[in-house]
Amino acid sequence: MSTLRRWWLVAVVGLGLGWGWPLQAADLEAGKALYQQYCSTCHGPEGKGNGPAAAAMQPKPRDHTDGRYMNALSDAHLFKVISQGGAAVGKSPLMPAWQGVLTPQQIRDVMAYLRTLAVPPYRPSP
Ligand code: HEC
Repeated sequence: MSTLRRWWLVAVVGLGLGWGWPLQAADLEAGKALYQQYCSTCHGPEGKGNGPAAAAMQPKPRDHTDGRYMNALSDAHLFKVISQGGAAVGKSPLMPAWQGVLTPQQIRDVMAYLRTLAVPPYRPSP
């Protein structure tokens, strides 16, 4: 193997291990922290839709553990409703818009965490 090709290998493997993996793992952790900070007042600390602010709301904040409902929502839909709010998808305007508060990356982090709450578990369609 030439020196050049060896360097390529080091670079590619290094990028994969150094950036790819921790980013993936950090996404979920970051998403969980963001969810607790911004979403749990309404959606509840475990995502069951029963946060302290939920009592007065009609319709109730969505139960994110309800996989039968949540798993049918596409990533595109989730991104839209989280960034632009409930009204943008014909839902309650009490679901706030988070663009401007959360970056697109943070919204994706929260989505990754949201997907882990579903029962039955979320399986991305192939
Ligand atoms: C002020 C209360 C409140 C906060 C804070 C809030 N939500 Fe909501 N959310 C709602 C309500 C109310 C609904 C139900 C809307 C409906 O069914 O018409 C909802 C619905 C949703 C839905 C389901 C949308 C659909 O198409 O059915 C998702 C996903 C969601 N919220 C994500 C989030 C995320 C992520 C956060 C935090 C970044 C968050 N929400 C913070 C009130 C809130």
